[in-house]
Amino acid sequence: MFAGESMKAVIPAAGMGTRFLPLTKVQPKEMLPVVDKPVIQYVVEEAVNAGITDIIIVTGREKRAIEDHFDSSPELERVLRERKKDDYLKRVKEITSLADIHYIRQKYPRGLGDAVYCARHHIGNESFAVMLGDTINISKVPVVKQLMTVHDELDSSVIAVEKVTRDKISDYGIIGGKMIRKRLYSIDELVEKPDPAAAPSDLGITGTYVLTPGIFDAIERTEPDIRDEIQLTNALSILKKREKIYGYAFEGRRYDIGDIYLWMKVNLELTLKSSKYGQRLKREMKVM
Ligand code: G1P
Repeated sequence: MFAGESMKAVIPAAGMGTRFLPLTKVQPKEMLPVVDKPVIQYVVEEAVNAGITDIIIVTGREKRAIEDHFDSSPELERVLRERKKDDYLKRVKEITSLADIHYIRQKYPRGLGDAVYCARHHIGNESFAVMLGDTINISKVPVVKQLMTVHDELDSSVIAVEKVTRDKISDYGIIGGKMIRKRLYSIDELVEKPDPAAAPSDLGITGTYVLTPGIFDAIERTEPDIRDEIQLTNALSILKKREKIYGYAFEGRRYDIGDIYLWMKVNLELTLKSSKYGQRLKREMKVM
């Protein structure tokens, strides 16, 4: 399959968001606002900008707000029309027509690998993208599109990687491998959240992947970890024994919304960059 053809994307969004409590007691972490949109809307928009219009969001309990967000809201649209709030109306309607979104429920929170596995029937025997619901990529060419281009060239799985600082190594899946050309690594090893002393490198898996369908069989063979979760990184290790896997140090910036502090920082950084609010925030923060 080639970029521009109908590649599908899976957005896992079934995690419990415990690191955000009490913010996420009744709202999914994927619905937390970043400047003026919920996090997951950035992820869906990145997919759409890469030409992906068939999206599967894997949800779990307490995630209905995600479905409602991308659904139409006739009452709201009627009120906005009556009040002549054309700008809001346009923005609300745009969300509904972004993409063709399907929802699958992950019955038990059994890890990222299991969440991806839930989408197997919808994906079938084709390569597909995985885009984590708590990561925002800002780049000229969508990061997932950069991976799709490498996937088309090498006909293999490609995962986005980025150098992480030593104190962050144990928060990420880490790859080991050889750089074979600018930005591109041939992966020899993948370890989920290693101890920094045992890590094969400082290249962290950032949460955007283009995977061959062989990953589903690899997930089936993956043993649960000590938390009884099936890790996607461990499934990739199994896939790597049969197929080549590449890491791609993408062009652009990734904003991790992994905990409350990071989420607040991303909000500030992106508000400062926004054409609508940036200047004002700078001015008013200086006054404080
Ligand atoms: C997941 C993956 C990990 C990856 C990370 C990126 O971990 O398991 O390999 O590096 O996303 O954010 P999580 O952050 O869900 O614990």
